[in-house]
Amino acid sequence: MTAVINMYTGTSVSNKRAMSHTNISYSTSLQSSFLLGYLDENPDTSGTRTETRQRMLYELANARVWNVQQQINWDMSKRSSAFPECKSDDPLDAYQPYQSLSRERRRALSWRRHAMELSDILHGEQAALLLSAQLLSVVPTPAARLFMSSQVSDEARHVDFFIQYMVAAKLPVSAPNNQLARLIHGALQSPDWRYKFSVCQVLIESLALARFRELKSSSRIPALQQGLALILQDEARHVKFGTDTLHEAFADLTAEERELRGSHLLHSALLLIDTTHSSAVLAREGRWDAAHLRLHLRQYRIRHPEIARQRLRQLSLNMSSAGLMTDNVRKRLERITSPTNS
Ligand SMILES: [Fe+2]
Ligand SMILES: [Fe+2]
Repeated sequence: MTAVINMYTGTSVSNKRAMSHTNISYSTSLQSSFLLGYLDENPDTSGTRTETRQRMLYELANARVWNVQQQINWDMSKRSSAFPECKSDDPLDAYQPYQSLSRERRRALSWRRHAMELSDILHGEQAALLLSAQLLSVVPTPAARLFMSSQVSDEARHVDFFIQYMVAAKLPVSAPNNQLARLIHGALQSPDWRYKFSVCQVLIESLALARFRELKSSSRIPALQQGLALILQDEARHVKFGTDTLHEAFADLTAEERELRGSHLLHSALLLIDTTHSSAVLAREGRWDAAHLRLHLRQYRIRHPEIARQRLRQLSLNMSSAGLMTDNVRKRLERITSPTNS
């Protein structure tokens, strides 16, 4: 299978993350089967507990389908005067060179940062859409395939929502940062469905859940708050399905394989929550010293260890449920989220 990712290019802007019509090519081959065992007639053996739960999650997904055009109030009147997020959640707010700018300039920079983050979120949603579409044909049971079909539809709606939001808020779409692009490419190319599954259902979904919760409470734009509230319900289902299914799919892993997969997920998560790339863009646009800004952001993280803890908490829970939280991975995670080493 060969395909390209369309990165939904938006308004052209003058920074290195901006791109016009650049796609990420990938090819993959997947081994799968056309399933014929639809029903098990024996009442004693019909369906495992996991399959029963998958079926319930599928029914829930059908009952909770929402509509991007009809259920979101797309009034964007606040766009022209408000900051995108509450001041208390802005790490730049305590940065003196930023404080000394006019309100209009600070507002413009905040929207610039918001646009970069939302671009990466949109790319993450497209990755989830393509990965779940691949997974639909390789998950091993009819119940899992039914659920994956609902996830494909959910992820398409999420992609649609974020495109509509970027357009309505007049935000330029920039290219994914290198770490995100590499992760998306690697997962789409991988022939190992369990790897794809752990990237999609554990890594991307866990980080998205944590960040969407933060954004929902810090955003000043009603359309984004409404969309995130609905998306969070969908993502919670995907995570539940993913951890249940992976727990079973990883049952035969050796301790060494568990360690390797767990370490890789944690390493990827740390790269994804790293904001060095966006702070470099901001330093350039604010004409600040990049090293000075990095130092400020590092000190901000040390003063606010709860941010990394919160962003990685969901990942930790989901890795535990999937059976990938080994002692070494847990110790490493504890070191990262402790105040002295953040
Ligand atoms: Fe999603
Ligand atoms: Fe999802």
